[in-house]
Amino acid sequence: MLDAAERGVMVIEADDSNGSVGLGGLPDRDGNVTLDACIMHGDGRAGSVCFVQGIRHPISVARMVMEQTPHVMLVGKGAEQFAREQGITQKPNTLTDAARAAWQKWLAEKKYAAVINIENHDTIGLLALDQRGTMAGACTTSGLAFKMHGRVGDSPIIGAGLFVDGDVGGATCTGLGEAVLRTLATHLAVERMRIGDTPQQACEVAIKRIIAKNPSWRDLQVGILALHRDGTHGAYSIQPGFTYAFNDEVRTAASYL
Ligand code: GLY
Repeated sequence: MLDAAERGVMVIEADDSNGSVGLGGLPDRDGNVTLDACIMHGDGRAGSVCFVQGIRHPISVARMVMEQTPHVMLVGKGAEQFAREQGITQKPNTLTDAARAAWQKWLAEKKYAAVINIENHDTIGLLALDQRGTMAGACTTSGLAFKMHGRVGDSPIIGAGLFVDGDVGGATCTGLGEAVLRTLATHLAVERMRIGDTPQQACEVAIKRIIAKNPSWRDLQVGILALHRDGTHGAYSIQPGFTYAFNDEVRTAASYL
């Protein structure tokens, strides 16, 4: 399941045309692409990296933190040093042409307000469940476009951008990280499932909590997905326009050969 979660989001991390995940992401206000990611197994193990630069697959470094260290989270230069020690090549932190053009356009106005961010805030969160009930999840992002240098959002924070408990289910968020961080929305959703909510009800409780705690909720977007260990799922968002994919294709052993 960890392989499914990691490899699933690696596809998006490798896509330089994606403006909010991986090295093609939109930069911070100083022109640096900084990446955050986390991974969690249903048995409670978790790994995370924040504020890393020049790393093609931060999700893989997050998994290495989980599997190769006694820690859950490494940040910035320490995370980059760890990645290099694991044999990962660190690239120069250059911008794609599209990201540079968007940054230069932003520099003309330097509008610091976080905007409702539906199209360019597609952090990827993935929840995986196999036929034995094993669960895992992954979440990875370049974060809020034109954020302050050093800003970290919800995506690498266990319980904010992602939470998985194999006894119950998992949840993952996309959208304005500050709103998710203030409510630990994925932890909330999983705990709601634990006391009997369906995944859909759990997602709605989490989004309503965000709305209740953010008077300016009309100006922001958060979307949440939840997957119960029984295979049912739910999704909810503040604003319309939040799309997600669900795949319940049953694969046979032969399809992995
Ligand atoms: N949800 C991604 C971020 O706010 O950084």
